[in-house]
Amino acid sequence: MITALRGPLAYCTDDPFLAGATALRYERDGLLICRDGIVDAVGAYHALRGQLPDDCAVSDYSDCLIVPGFVDTHIHYVQTGIIGAQGRQLLDWLERYTFPAEIAFSDPDEAKRTASTFCDELLRHGTTTALVFCSVHPGSVDAIFEQAARRNMLLIAGKVLMDRNAPEPLRDTAQTGYDQSKALLRKWHRNGRCRYAITPRFAATSSPEQLELAGALWGEYPDVHLHTHIAENRNEIAWVRELFPERVNYLDVYAHYGLTGRRAVLAHGVHLDEPALCRCHETGTALSHCPTSNLFLGSGLFRMRHVRDPRRPVQVGLGTDIGAGTSFSLLATMGEAYKVSQMVGEPIDAIEAFYLATLGGARALDLADRIGTFASGKDADCVVLDPRATPLLAFRTARAAGIEEMLAVLMTLGDDRCVRATYVAGSPVHERDRPGDR
Ligand code: GUN
Ligand code: ZN
Repeated sequence: MITALRGPLAYCTDDPFLAGATALRYERDGLLICRDGIVDAVGAYHALRGQLPDDCAVSDYSDCLIVPGFVDTHIHYVQTGIIGAQGRQLLDWLERYTFPAEIAFSDPDEAKRTASTFCDELLRHGTTTALVFCSVHPGSVDAIFEQAARRNMLLIAGKVLMDRNAPEPLRDTAQTGYDQSKALLRKWHRNGRCRYAITPRFAATSSPEQLELAGALWGEYPDVHLHTHIAENRNEIAWVRELFPERVNYLDVYAHYGLTGRRAVLAHGVHLDEPALCRCHETGTALSHCPTSNLFLGSGLFRMRHVRDPRRPVQVGLGTDIGAGTSFSLLATMGEAYKVSQMVGEPIDAIEAFYLATLGGARALDLADRIGTFASGKDADCVVLDPRATPLLAFRTARAAGIEEMLAVLMTLGDDRCVRATYVAGSPVHERDRPGDR
């Protein structure tokens, strides 16, 4: 099966924090040829059109911008129903809104309904890959992978491990958490495009025994991912220091139990100090920057340029962190990441923000061999963005001098309204102007 898309193409081939603006490729009249879900060729339309069979249909997106599918490196599907629950910071917010909402996921119907809505929302927003927290219930993991598999999405998810400091219905034990995670991992990891993440919620809700077994499980299956939270909120950090007084800092708790390294993604990391950032760099441990969540919960201001310092760059992707986060849109999240970088006096540019939402996210997930850019042999996941999606966007983008300004305007004014189409493995899975079509 061949899919051919014609239109302006933009994608990163390198890290703009290290390489500058040359990391971005832009093809004004481009062609993306996909064969059986894989990118076959990418480049100038006039150079490549001869490779297409005469009878091959070409989707014309000349008035749009075709980019790699967005990568969300931290999101909770079980919190879709509590977006916008106001008035509390992290620890109170968890107790008051989050834990009660997650208790409902013992019900397979609730899990299935939410997982289906959630996957549709990802695709409507142009997100083709996400690293997803489920609840403590194994059925919540089956539900999300079943829905992702139906849509052929490359999705990473895992069962929450939580054996203390949580309501009784949400607690597992070190042993049941290990056993259930192992069974789920064996069922779903590399089943189609699904991948598994061992998912201790955060240091405060796991006993030392549970973290120990999580590390042992990762040792047995080093190819899976590791997903947790770190250093998001000052009170959380103080609590973790009390719970693990023998560890030098928060990161050291995870490192001690073998929970750092490549394929580990730690969400937030707002308050990590220099030694911890160096350790992330040295071990290949990635951070997920979640600006809308950090603003919503008043957690703090992430210093992106400092974290990505070329002398010891830490891998970073963007996370929406729904339901503490306030938007599924990686465009909106890029825009908020820009504003946060302004607040700390170290502004990032539009190409850097775009990298974080695409290739940077893919690298943080150790999936850059499959997604995040356009090159022959990669998975054909892409988004078609409409720069004229609203009257204001049309007015403003008409005045954009080049691709960098176009990206800047899209991340400032754009959201799901800009997502004209989403393709997963070469197939259209969302078309904005044909709602309810599939
Ligand atoms: N830390 C531990 N659990 C959570 C959660 O569900 N959301 C956020 N934002 N932080 C957490
Ligand atoms: Zn989170």
